[in-house]
Amino acid sequence: MKIILASGNKGKIKEIKEYCMESEVLAYSDIIEPFEIVEDGLTYQENALIKAQTIYDKLKDREENFVVLADDSGISVPALGNTPGIYSARYAGEGASDKDNLYKLIDTLKEKGIKRTPAYYTAAMAIVSEKGSFTVHGWMHGDVLAQARGEGGFGYDPMFIPEGYEETLGDLDKEVKQAFSHRTKALKLAKLVLEGL
Ligand code: IMP
Repeated sequence: MKIILASGNKGKIKEIKEYCMESEVLAYSDIIEPFEIVEDGLTYQENALIKAQTIYDKLKDREENFVVLADDSGISVPALGNTPGIYSARYAGEGASDKDNLYKLIDTLKEKGIKRTPAYYTAAMAIVSEKGSFTVHGWMHGDVLAQARGEGGFGYDPMFIPEGYEETLGDLDKEVKQAFSHRTKALKLAKLVLEGL
């Protein structure tokens, strides 16, 4: 069964493809012209379902034996009222780049005089198939720093230190993130759903 990803985020696509090596995984933009999906849900789960359902509806008349998998994710900082949360992708404004968002969060921490504080990533994954829709979640806890270190990962990774480590995901080998990230945890559950379809 083909897994079609409802995402244009290169970092996510890379991580999901690496995790699902034994399956045929492709981005929806490999099949149709990419377009903007309005993510107006109030939770990660709602937004993941919106993305997966939108792409499923676009592809159902031209593809066979496929499911659509969508990931909606973000980072929350309790010291900042759990922001940016579901607004992580547009924290620095509509159309902001990953770098813009990273430095906006660093600047916000600096403005509050915070050098290091707990934070966590959340990933909601939605699977839409001819047999119905399913959602799963995964989390990764750690700290964020008011500085960026390293070039690895994507998004907020250069400021995020996972629990049990002293380096950021920007500095750590990608295998560390792959072992227990929010996305990996959600993907483990998503695999169980896929096996049951
Ligand atoms: P989405 O594509 O609308 O789900 O937005 C996800 C946002 O959260 C983007 O700004 C990402 O950079 C950020 N994000 C999600 N997962 C990760 C991650 O694993 N590392 C770093 N940033 C992430």
